[in-house]
Amino acid sequence: MDLRSNLVYIIRLLQTSVKGKFLNLALKSNEMEKVDLILKEYKNACHDSLIPILQEIQEAEGFLSETAIVEVGNHLHLPTSKIYGVATFYNQFRFQPKGKYNIQVCRGTACHVLGSSTVLNELEKYLKIKAGQTSRDNLFSIEVVACIGACGLAPVIAINGEFHAKVTVDSLKEIVESYRNREELS
Ligand code: FES
Repeated sequence: MDLRSNLVYIIRLLQTSVKGKFLNLALKSNEMEKVDLILKEYKNACHDSLIPILQEIQEAEGFLSETAIVEVGNHLHLPTSKIYGVATFYNQFRFQPKGKYNIQVCRGTACHVLGSSTVLNELEKYLKIKAGQTSRDNLFSIEVVACIGACGLAPVIAINGEFHAKVTVDSLKEIVESYRNREELS
C-alpha cells in the first residue's frame, strides 16, 4: 500500500470505530432508560423486590446486562456479586441476548418423565452452550421452560414458537440442523 492508501485505510478504520462507539452508547442509553423507568416504580424498594425487579428488566430487555445489574445494585444497595448469586440460582434469568433461534426445552412433568433432561443434556453438548446461554454465532440459545401446554407431544421443544414433538437424541440434531440450513439458504 502507498502512503495515500494507508491514510485512507486508517481514516476508515477510525470512522468505523467512532461510529461503533456512538452506536454502543446509544444502545446503552436506550437500555438504561428502560431500566431507570422500572427502578422508578420501585422507589423505596427493599431487598425483597430484587426478583420482581430482575424479572421486569428481563421482560423489557430479554436478558440481564452487566450495566442493568450494577444499576439494580446501586438502587437496592446490594453488591453485584450478591445479585449475580441470586439470579444464577434461578434458571429463569439469562445474561446474554437470545440467539436468532431460541430453543425452549420443556421441563414440565410429562416431558420430564419422558426424558426431557436427556434432551437438554444432548442439546447443551451439541451446541456447546448451557441453558441460558447463546451460541457464539448468535444463532441458537437454550431456555428451560415449564409446561408449554403440549404434554401429549412430550418430550417437546419449541423453537421461536414452532413445536417439535416426541424429540429423541437423533431427531434433536436433525431439528437443529434444519434451522441452521434455513440460515444458510437465506
Ligand atoms: S410437560 Fe411439557 S408440554 Fe406439558
